[in-house]
Amino acid sequence: MRKINIAIDGYSACGKSSTAKALSFWLQYVYIDSGSMYRAVTLFFLKNYINFNNPKEIKEALDKIQLDFYYHDGKRKHEIYLNGLNVEDEIRKMYVTDKVGEVSAIVDVRRALVRQQQKLGKKRGVVMDGRDIGTVVFPDAELKIFMTADIEVRAHRRQKELLEMGEMVEFEAVLENLRKRDKIDETRVEGPLIQAPDAHFMDTTHMTLEEQMEEMLNLYTTEIVEKALVKN
Ligand code: CDP
Repeated sequence: MRKINIAIDGYSACGKSSTAKALSFWLQYVYIDSGSMYRAVTLFFLKNYINFNNPKEIKEALDKIQLDFYYHDGKRKHEIYLNGLNVEDEIRKMYVTDKVGEVSAIVDVRRALVRQQQKLGKKRGVVMDGRDIGTVVFPDAELKIFMTADIEVRAHRRQKELLEMGEMVEFEAVLENLRKRDKIDETRVEGPLIQAPDAHFMDTTHMTLEEQMEEMLNLYTTEIVEKALVKN
């Protein structure tokens, strides 16, 4: 069957990556977590004391960053490498999460990463999640989903994930971080978090992961198999 691109955008911790990962495994597609790229750039900036307000320093730093994805058999997903080093776990830590909103609002950072993301999707067969995938990265994606959930539910989910990774963060701190990032994501000039007009809306507040998966598969079947492919 003809391969398509699937764009999943939305707010933090509403289940985008878990469903995207499961969907890509089921379809035998490549799953790319675009947020991990913004997180890896943030990690590099922090480790190298890059001044977020200095465009020259930022440009020079971006030239020194090489991002790659390699498949991890056990975890059944691609993991991100920053200049040859696996940083998949490090980038999820709170000190990176605290700064990633600021870094991802920098226009030069966005343009550099969007270019790489578009290259990754050139051959299609990609499920990519993020904030601007359906609007900027793959405006021609055949299937677009926009996800949200109640902010307190998202904060509980994220706190649990952090705990599972060995980091204990107070609920209020997680909630505050989500609020701050939502605001930066929604209001930045370049690639803001916004639903594409042709995206399907999904509120996962009261949904289990299984229900989210089922809904995704339904959308895939209806939109792609029945409408697009059968018509062609
Ligand atoms: O996992 P979580 O939903 O918290 O965030 P993420 O997907 O790992 O993305 C981390 C941050 O990167 C977000 O808060 C956004 O500020 C930024 N991001 C973005 O600006 N554009 C994307 N396509 C993906 C992430």
